[in-house]
Amino acid sequence: MKKYINEKFPYFLHGGDYNPEQWIDVKEVWDEDMRLMREANCNEMTVGIFSWAVLEPEEGRYDFSFLDEVIDKIYQNGGRVVLATPSGSRPRWLAQKYPEVLRVSDSRERFGFSGRHNHCPTSPIYREKVQKINALLAERYGKHPAVVAWHVSNEYSGECFCPLCQEAFRAYLRERYNGDIQALNKAYWSTFWSHNYDNFEQIEAPTPLTDESVLGLRLDWKRFVTAQTVDFMRSESEPLRRITPEMPVTTNMMTAFYGLDYNKFEDVLDVASWDNYPDWHSPRGDYEACRSAFWHDYFRALKGRAHMMMESAPGLTNWKSYNKLKRPGMDTLAALQAIAHGSDTVQYFQWRKSRGSVEKFHGAVVDHVGTNQTRVFGEIKRTGEILKKIDEAAGTTVKARVAILFDWENWWALDNCQGFQLKDKKYEETCVEYYKPFWRRGVAVDVIGPQKDFSAYDLVIAPMLYMTDRAMIQKIASYVEQGGTFYATYMLGMVNESDLCYLGGFPAAELKEVFGLWNEEIDSLYPEERGEITLNGGTRYATKDYAEVLHERGAKVLARYSKEFYNGTPAYTVNKYGKGKAYYQAFRDTGEFKDCVFFTIMKELGIEGAVPELPAGVTAHTRTDGDTVYLFIENYSAERKENIALGNEYEDMLTGEKVLTVGVDGYGMRILKR
Ligand code: GLA
Ligand code: ZN
Repeated sequence: MKKYINEKFPYFLHGGDYNPEQWIDVKEVWDEDMRLMREANCNEMTVGIFSWAVLEPEEGRYDFSFLDEVIDKIYQNGGRVVLATPSGSRPRWLAQKYPEVLRVSDSRERFGFSGRHNHCPTSPIYREKVQKINALLAERYGKHPAVVAWHVSNEYSGECFCPLCQEAFRAYLRERYNGDIQALNKAYWSTFWSHNYDNFEQIEAPTPLTDESVLGLRLDWKRFVTAQTVDFMRSESEPLRRITPEMPVTTNMMTAFYGLDYNKFEDVLDVASWDNYPDWHSPRGDYEACRSAFWHDYFRALKGRAHMMMESAPGLTNWKSYNKLKRPGMDTLAALQAIAHGSDTVQYFQWRKSRGSVEKFHGAVVDHVGTNQTRVFGEIKRTGEILKKIDEAAGTTVKARVAILFDWENWWALDNCQGFQLKDKKYEETCVEYYKPFWRRGVAVDVIGPQKDFSAYDLVIAPMLYMTDRAMIQKIASYVEQGGTFYATYMLGMVNESDLCYLGGFPAAELKEVFGLWNEEIDSLYPEERGEITLNGGTRYATKDYAEVLHERGAKVLARYSKEFYNGTPAYTVNKYGKGKAYYQAFRDTGEFKDCVFFTIMKELGIEGAVPELPAGVTAHTRTDGDTVYLFIENYSAERKENIALGNEYEDMLTGEKVLTVGVDGYGMRILKR
């Protein structure tokens, strides 16, 4: 079964952000863009993202002529359009006339017009103005044969501390605590430092000027910011959904964006999309490729269907501290990585470089030279050629038996926590590290939020799951009881959803039974320090950062510490609980340990990689419609790798030849099917 982004265009989309309004006075550029779009094998343009000032030059006076022309042109040239709503950046008159649409900072100063992505999400006027223009866009273009999806706003982000947002926050809390201020006081442990609230009116958003020490409040504020952003998206999507119910709605999200809990966006999206800007070729080796794959697997799993890579940089970015050129091959490899992990689009920021302003040196398909004669153009053209040859794989998906949990609320709670290593608890990085043993062996993984059903997986891994509410405790227990394998680490189940510590020993409540242990203390090491554990076979592994001192309560000890005052105590355990197994890793390892133990667990569960064995730097992933398997072999190293045995006969989708073993060029890719 295939599920396309839009049934009316059952192919991969290849294109990206296009800002023709910047060239409205030089329309020859538009015609040249169309010619180059065809030549670059691109078939999509994302338009309207930052066009509001042109579309509504004065309040209530709309001028869609430029979009009419551009959308028609793209369609006549064989392209499709992802149409944006313009709320990411408003016209100047709007901010001038209605200052309430401007954000207020955490020091309570109202911003001026400033950059972009800076509206108040609560302002009724902003919501109304956005709905109006969105409705007009939907009426005008919703039935246009070129348009295939709604790109709502752009990279939602940020917080607003204005009186409207503060009032909405109080309303949010009233609802959360059923109007009972004492329930809130209890949840916030507010007697600490005499922070008790007498009524809801006293509550203000946590800032350096207010109640930052109240951790429950800080969590609730972040929850509120997400809820308010989701609500804003729902509000601005309302006319789109009403007028064009068939058209898929998405918003472009960012990699591991700290400020918003993307798990809460599941229901407002038809398709998930994200903007992917790894530090390719960074000194961290293949970590960046692995992290990029991790986030693809998150966005695909979020909707359980093909997602969109809405933005990526042709050649280079301009906003990082070091803007290294992607090495030859890397643009195509990065594009096909997206496809390998289940994206149905390869989209760039941007089609053509803007001549002025802050992004004039950001990579683009068309550089300032304005021709097809650039290395990057050539590479994008090649990517497009490849995508055309493998179009039959569009709409297929990835089947994973392994899941890794990624939970924003847990991330925030960990970071808020004064304890352990004070700064940089490394939650995201740790989750990516747990993904790596699977990624490098070509094992499919879904990265999932806590709202997802665990029973779909044979193995669920939850690194540093410090905050577990009642529902999560039960979810883990029943998953294991019914036969699942759950892998948890240090810091499991220490606080509840209000950031209150669990009493009676960690991990919380019945998790002690599930894992057959309790954790008394946690040691934090200095960055350069290393501890040691010894696995039952006698192999020693280094530990770093964290070591918990456990007491066994029925778990089988697989490894013990072999240094420090806790020498000889359990460091790695497994417990049979019901029909399943619960693993516990009490320390942070340096990589080798988890690579080894997950290899063992995979063998036990019969979980296999896409191909039997892969050389260093090379990985492999599959997509399928249930019948045909599409296999992507990706080489993230600069050297060619030879003799990769596939374990089955495959057909090379680019050459048609039948192969049993393949070689892959440095920064190269092979695409096969069976
Ligand atoms: C983001 C934005 C784009 C552009 C790129 C540059 O992803 O959505 O408008 O600024 O960054 O990398
Ligand atoms: Zn506000």
